[in-house]
Amino acid sequence: MASIHPKITPIYQTSVFKFQDLDELDQYYQEPNSRYLYSRNGNPNSDELADAVNALEGGAGAVATSSGMAAIFAAILAYCQAGDHVLCAADIYGGSAALLNTELSRMGVSVTYVPFEQLYDLGQHRQDNTRLLLAETISNPLLRVADLRRLAAHCHELGLKLVVDNTFATPLLTQPLALGADITLHSVTKYIAGHSDVTAGVAVAAEREVAARLKQIGVFYGLTLSPMESWLAVRGLKTLRLRIREHSHNALALAEMLNQHPAVRAVYYPGLPTHEQHALAAAQGGGLFSGMLSFKLTDDKEAVSEFMRRTTRFPFAPSLAGVDSSLSYPLGTSHRALTAEQQAALGITVGLIRLSVGIEPIEELMADLQQALS
Ligand SMILES: Cc1ncc(COP(=O)(O)O)c(C=O)c1O
Repeated sequence: MASIHPKITPIYQTSVFKFQDLDELDQYYQEPNSRYLYSRNGNPNSDELADAVNALEGGAGAVATSSGMAAIFAAILAYCQAGDHVLCAADIYGGSAALLNTELSRMGVSVTYVPFEQLYDLGQHRQDNTRLLLAETISNPLLRVADLRRLAAHCHELGLKLVVDNTFATPLLTQPLALGADITLHSVTKYIAGHSDVTAGVAVAAEREVAARLKQIGVFYGLTLSPMESWLAVRGLKTLRLRIREHSHNALALAEMLNQHPAVRAVYYPGLPTHEQHALAAAQGGGLFSGMLSFKLTDDKEAVSEFMRRTTRFPFAPSLAGVDSSLSYPLGTSHRALTAEQQAALGITVGLIRLSVGIEPIEELMADLQQALS
């Protein structure tokens, strides 16, 4: 056969790899990175994804996982066992809270939620068995921005690890490990892959031993990612730099427009000077604010449904961060499982709509929102 030198890594769509003889098997166990054995344990495509995100995040090693949830699970298990306690920012993706409340609690890991205003005063929530704080760089859905350098210093003073969900910010805006976090993770499903066609995650550690732990948890619990999904995510990742600029520019323009609109009660976007953490977001995000924004209509279900029916460029599709715009409804989807009191405390009301602003021509998105709100 002619020698083959593909420019792009082929998809190694195989669950297992061959060995010539027992010498090769010995070689695998003596130098595990020298060859592959079984795709759950390691595959060239999932390694390529993990290495690429690890490089962007400045980590010591990473594991690609079958979803963002799997990355969160792996990160918590890297530090916790039965009898331990974790702190979690109250402003968090609803699925993360559901994992802690319904599954990790059964495994003996308890949780206390910390209101955003108390994130830098964790002493009052810390217990002797508290191991870590889980927080998002930019929170879902109200886009509150955590001061990661301050948070990491505060956590370490108290002997806690800081685990950061960097999904909304991406490493192009913020690199949590450089600011002191111990693990950073992503729902790769979102900006990293970027095209709404992959479900995947990644967890990246600041230290080699923790990275090895993440990898082991991925392998033993079967959280690792398939070759095809890895390949798609790697392909998407190559344009992250271009996409995130367009997402950010478009979102800022729409946030400014919505902020002036009489039907809009409030706009949540870190790029607006009126946002409560605008200065921090500008410094920590290198002047970009990502493509997610939320806004409030009047608290009337019918007004929300009417907006959903009228918009043609923002289909109601409860995910985010694809190149095509979409919208979501936190009260009915991501934060549905919270109690009414929790929803109210977080500002998740009937009129709250979250936009994932895509990279389409901005004038088309503006015209669509104008007509949908008119
Ligand atoms: C901030 C954040 N983290 C984690 C997840 C979970 O990711 P996945 O759906 O890939 O499991 C999501 C999903 O929406 C998310 O928004």
